[in-house]
Amino acid sequence: MARVVIVSNRVPLPSKGAKAGGLTVALKDVFKQGALWLGWSGEIAAETATSAKLHNSGKLDFATIDLSEDDYRRFYVGFANSVLWPLLHFQPGLLEFDREDFEGYLAVNSTYAKALAELLRPDDLIWVHDYHLIPLADALRALGVKNRIGFFLHVPFVPASVFGVLPSAEKLLRMMLTYDVVGFQARQHLHDFEDCLLSFLNIARQSGEPISYEGRSVVVDAIPIGIDSRGFARQAKKAVQSRAAHRLFESIEGHAFMIGVDRLDYSKGLPNRFEAFGYLLDRFPEHRMHVTYLQIAARSREDVAEYQRLKRELDRLSGDINGRYADFDWQPLRYMTRAVSRASLAGFHRQARVGIVTPLRDGMNLVAKEYIAAQDPEDPGVLILSRFAGAAEELTEAIIINPYDPEEITEAMHEALVMPLDERKDRQEKLFEKICQTTAITYCRDFINALTGGTNGHSLTSQ
Ligand code: G6P
Repeated sequence: MARVVIVSNRVPLPSKGAKAGGLTVALKDVFKQGALWLGWSGEIAAETATSAKLHNSGKLDFATIDLSEDDYRRFYVGFANSVLWPLLHFQPGLLEFDREDFEGYLAVNSTYAKALAELLRPDDLIWVHDYHLIPLADALRALGVKNRIGFFLHVPFVPASVFGVLPSAEKLLRMMLTYDVVGFQARQHLHDFEDCLLSFLNIARQSGEPISYEGRSVVVDAIPIGIDSRGFARQAKKAVQSRAAHRLFESIEGHAFMIGVDRLDYSKGLPNRFEAFGYLLDRFPEHRMHVTYLQIAARSREDVAEYQRLKRELDRLSGDINGRYADFDWQPLRYMTRAVSRASLAGFHRQARVGIVTPLRDGMNLVAKEYIAAQDPEDPGVLILSRFAGAAEELTEAIIINPYDPEEITEAMHEALVMPLDERKDRQEKLFEKICQTTAITYCRDFINALTGGTNGHSLTSQ
């Protein structure tokens, strides 16, 4: 049976105490069969490594590469997170393009390719993740690698009118077509990709058909990522008994409790959400003294200037809201920038009457699915979800809002806080069913099947 080789920029090395993120959890089933995972070590060294360091952890082998300060700046801070990230999240105004960064991006991809080529077996299936690594297949093919290579984009894609802002747009698009499979989170992202193919390369895809490109066939599809919903539901039920959940519960003293959990990122729409909460207390005074909103916004990419600016803005907004509405015995907004473990979050979600997921744009957003999975079916909370999160294509029974309109979020917060039990149960039942249909397992199974054409004997169980 073929081995699966995962390549992503971040590698969850257990020795570094890495917490299981969405990708690790989603890929758990693939790892049962033995796998290799290659990527950046998270370390800055004097020179970028030319071969990978190997680490073993049960059935999973890790291979990591240290980056030099220059490569880290050009590849990660520069092209990946100051060009591709804002572009693919519909924020071309935030793009900081620099040719040297683009060269650095290509060079680091070539380094990953060389390090990986040394470790490959002929029948390995290579599964590459996310926007940091678009050129990887091209670099591997240049080294003579013949394995099947698939690419999954975790972030959104954009239509040609936005993608064209990028000076190297056509080159990157051609690089995506070097893969055998290209997967997206949502149908909308796939449509936007097709729009780019037509506009830049004059390729018109027949619905559902692979693309013919330079004599090869490229499968493109929307394969939404999911979670182990029933497992997370069990974890949440247990986690409400945890010390962290008790501390939270006691501290909110019977108030209605709303929660947001995000990375501190401008794509998450946090300033609008804070503003919406301020309006809620203003327009619906009955909620004053009765509601607590906890926003966990884990600090992220702190070397990128735009993230530093956002942090200052949120510090100001949260201070302003609390200053204006708090009383000596009530703090409306609790805002923290430290990360919280997934286990504690499971318990927090279950206690929250409202889950707020209002990104301006998002690939999928697994927090939305985790919030649903964590609810008590007898007394469920309500999810407020941005129409621009990939998850909104599936989770249509959430309260769907436009995150650019803070007052629409306010109205949704009010609606969620006063929603009768029957309606909450009805929505929850349908949403839970949906997150049990598209899971971590279906995601892996569908991607690997696309990569093998269903012929490699990989037996990912269906759920
Ligand atoms: C998003 C991206 C991932 C990335 C993660 C954390 O979810 O899609 O590729 O790993 O953010 O960001 P970071 O820059 O810390 O790796």
